[in-house]
Amino acid sequence: MAVVDRYAVVGNPVSHSLSPRIHEAFARDTGQSLRYDRIEAPLDGFAETVQQFFAAGGRGLNVTVPFKGDAARWVDRRSDHAAFAKAVNTIVLEPDGSTTGHNTDGLGLMLDLERLLPAARGDGRLRVLLLGAGGAARGVARPLLEGLARELVIANRTLARAEELVANLDEISDRPVTAVPFNKLDGGFDLVINATSAGLDDAVPTIEPAVIQGAFCYDMVYGGETAFCRWSRESGASAAADGLGMLVAQAAFAFKLWRGVRPDLEPVLSQLGAGS
Ligand code: ATR
Repeated sequence: MAVVDRYAVVGNPVSHSLSPRIHEAFARDTGQSLRYDRIEAPLDGFAETVQQFFAAGGRGLNVTVPFKGDAARWVDRRSDHAAFAKAVNTIVLEPDGSTTGHNTDGLGLMLDLERLLPAARGDGRLRVLLLGAGGAARGVARPLLEGLARELVIANRTLARAEELVANLDEISDRPVTAVPFNKLDGGFDLVINATSAGLDDAVPTIEPAVIQGAFCYDMVYGGETAFCRWSRESGASAAADGLGMLVAQAAFAFKLWRGVRPDLEPVLSQLGAGS
């Protein structure tokens, strides 16, 4: 009997994850045969769960909330992006049985922004405001500075966290990057990215509408009209998008790491009803 390669997403909670649907569609579209499940690990049982999965022959994992930091500590080695982010969303089982942790969230965001925002294509063109300085923000800050951001401003409720991230970014990039409190932000941004978890409480970071006038606003969380998307549209943004495209794009990069082929995003995006 042919053995089908097994993959899964590990999280808690994980029952609403779209990842199985996305990866099954990628497998169909690229003619690959694989199985992709959801695994809910106990909050204090990430390592045991993941060990069991690989011991039973699993080939690769996606990792989601709240385990991306645990995954970064668990793997045998980390890609540069995962090491900087201190967060792993994709684990690859190597031929020698060791594991490598990657972070495809930043690349996923870049690819989605290129799709949504033609002006973002090319290097160093946009003045970018990143809201938040937690794990999600760390995952995308470096790819932004290495790609489309000409200048990056990081604003966070707790300024010290933004300042620490800026200090880390200064070590790897020559482009201007500054930490600014929410109430001291100016305007003139091309792109504003919400990487805070305020939306979990249906809240929006406390910034003035003037800050986002004319900017393209992007919420890294998905869910259609998120609180941040709604607020942005009502407060003068040129347009707003949720993070569904980023979710599909980070999955495409994970699929490439596992299977060697990067699937097209469009068929899956239209299946899931993503805007463009
Ligand atoms: P994640 O992995 O989702 O980034 P995290 O590391 O806990 O989770 O970071 C959460 C981020 O959302 C932080 O930037 C946090 O700001 P603080 O560093 O000041 O805590 C931000 N955040 C959460 N709730 C928020 C709210 N209601 N308004 C503004 N920022 C908020």
